[in-house]
Amino acid sequence: MIDMFALGNTVFGLTMTHSFTGLFVIEQAIKEHKPRSIIELGAGRGALSAYLAAWSVVDGLRFVTIDTVPPMYADKIRAIAPNAAVLVGDASADEFLARAQAEFPHPWLIYNDCGSLGFRQDTFDAWAAIARPGDVQGVHDWPGEWRGWTPPAHVEPLPELNAISATCRSSQQWFIRV
Ligand SMILES: C[S@@+](CC[C@H](N)C(=O)[O-])C[C@H]1O[C@@H](n2cnc3c(N)ncnc32)[C@H](O)[C@@H]1O
Repeated sequence: MIDMFALGNTVFGLTMTHSFTGLFVIEQAIKEHKPRSIIELGAGRGALSAYLAAWSVVDGLRFVTIDTVPPMYADKIRAIAPNAAVLVGDASADEFLARAQAEFPHPWLIYNDCGSLGFRQDTFDAWAAIARPGDVQGVHDWPGEWRGWTPPAHVEPLPELNAISATCRSSQQWFIRV
């Protein structure tokens, strides 16, 4: 299997900062946990967002992505999933937490790729605080950018998904039931 983390990887022709094995592991998370909503924190350019938006159309899910900077591929995301919410601002902001609680059915797959560790900690905590039993949060760049982070005692790592991710070494993801 090709297991490359390459900055030139593309999905739908859009440049992403993910490996293909990373997408495979996310697909496993969607199949196993059957979320009704996917909530992406940290869209970047938005290529992974486009992939997640496609899943939302295929599986009839709600999809929202939030970034402090408008994603370069926002129009592509909306072309794939007209109902996708592409929101701009701090993913920890109360307005986004409130909107998700009001509009996005559980279970949630929260996918957190929010830059440096400090931002990730804030956003992890904010969304973990409003998560319900059955919701899952995936973090990208584990164990690289999350090195030194101690998960809160109440979170439950998901051993099967994390084992798949460990096999697909470029996946760099870790999944937690929050
Ligand atoms: C590593 S990039 C995301 C890459 C993207 N997932 C991809 O596959 O292309 C991290 C993103 O997180 C965003 N970010 C950092 N802190 C944030 C916060 N508190 N709320 C929302 N977005 C944040 C940054 O603006 C940046 O675009």
